[in-house]
Amino acid sequence: MERLLIRGGNSLDGDIRISGAKNAALPIMAGTLLADGPSVIGNIPDLHDITTTMELLGRMGVRLTVDERMRVEIDPRSLTNCHAPYEMVKTMRASILVLGPLLARYGEADVSLPGGCAIGTRPVNLHVEGLRALGAEISVENGYIRARCSRLKGARLVMDLVTVTGTENLMMAAALADGTSVIENAAREPEVVDLANYLNAMGAKISGAGTDTITVEGVERMQGAHYDVLPDRIETGTFLVAAAMTRGRIRVKNTAPPLLDSLIAKLRDCGADIAIGDDWIALDMDGRRPKAVNVRTAPYPAFPTDMQAQLCALNAVADGVGMVTETVFENRFMHILEIQRMGAEVKLEGHTAISTGVEYLTGAPVMATDLRASASLVLAGLVAKGDTLVDRIYHIDRGYECIEEKLAQLGADIRRMPGELAVNHA
Ligand code: EPZ
Repeated sequence: MERLLIRGGNSLDGDIRISGAKNAALPIMAGTLLADGPSVIGNIPDLHDITTTMELLGRMGVRLTVDERMRVEIDPRSLTNCHAPYEMVKTMRASILVLGPLLARYGEADVSLPGGCAIGTRPVNLHVEGLRALGAEISVENGYIRARCSRLKGARLVMDLVTVTGTENLMMAAALADGTSVIENAAREPEVVDLANYLNAMGAKISGAGTDTITVEGVERMQGAHYDVLPDRIETGTFLVAAAMTRGRIRVKNTAPPLLDSLIAKLRDCGADIAIGDDWIALDMDGRRPKAVNVRTAPYPAFPTDMQAQLCALNAVADGVGMVTETVFENRFMHILEIQRMGAEVKLEGHTAISTGVEYLTGAPVMATDLRASASLVLAGLVAKGDTLVDRIYHIDRGYECIEEKLAQLGADIRRMPGELAVNHA
């Protein structure tokens, strides 16, 4: 398996361009299944999860063409089956997002249960219950969700928990239902809004996206549309934190500053000077060591769980004591064990990581466990004395486009190493 070798100590300094948001591109690509014709989706990031989604749609018979600028034309008219097999879903949980569109447009879907992952059990019960409330007949057997319906019927759906992909799946299913649906306690994430904007461009009638109450007036049919995915706020935040940790400066371009209010407030608390433009954010530490901050993750617009690991890495080298509390996932602190091995003085008390910052970490071989944890290990390597070798970086490639190129462009000493040769132990 490939690894990333990082020689710490360089302050980041420079400009980078932010890619399209993975967590908007995935539901939007699933949403193309609702249309009677082709859609063209732009600003799609070149990530492993995107490739997996294209492969999944391709196996359904959907025709996809990609141009050199990663604009993808997706034509569902050639669809031959409504099946999302286990071997695909197990590599990417977001495959569950085809369930709602397939049911709404074709009246059937056989989608493997995603199973758990490193950060938690991550059930999909709310997706299933919501689709049943819309009239689908669903059995869960042999590890598959088998769903059938004639035509979904509008209903009022009250979500027990705020679920991002649950909200997205149900919004897509309701778009072609007979009658009006209301989703209460809906997720407010910007990626939900981006999906709603795309669906409305296809002829859906959705209002309230971005609030906790989304109203969907079902329509008879939807046509393909051209749509560009919004910038990735988590990639943006990851690079801002990297610059803050290395006491450097950065300008992140082609991003959406209003989506990062909670993070920008925390970075200002760290002592960062931050300037904001229409589509850029500039951070400058002026050589200062960041101050430790306290963070509590929660659904948008509160501090995002997908930035939790990165803030733990920052607190590890910040001045003072910082506490990071995770309220969304039950097991999202694997990175703590790894940065402890790099010399971080951090301990877990329940769902809170309490750290007393040290001036510098020490480089070590570490192992990535999930997408954002692996990003935090790369950030820790940037401020460690010596070499850090991050293993299992396929986790990173799922969510960050060319992370080592972008960091090297900013002055980091980082390069991708070929996987260890498989040594046959006699
Ligand atoms: C989305 O996952 C994101 N993925 C995650 O990003 C992100 O961390 C998460 O939302 C929270 O913001 C995509 O958008 C593809 P949830 P999702 O349903 O939708 C529980 C990344 O790093 N729950 O909002 O799967 C669940 O266990 C990834 O890019 C149920 O109990 O998350 C969790 O505790 C990681 N039953 C909480 O709700 C359900 O039916 C929130 O999960 C659904 C969810």
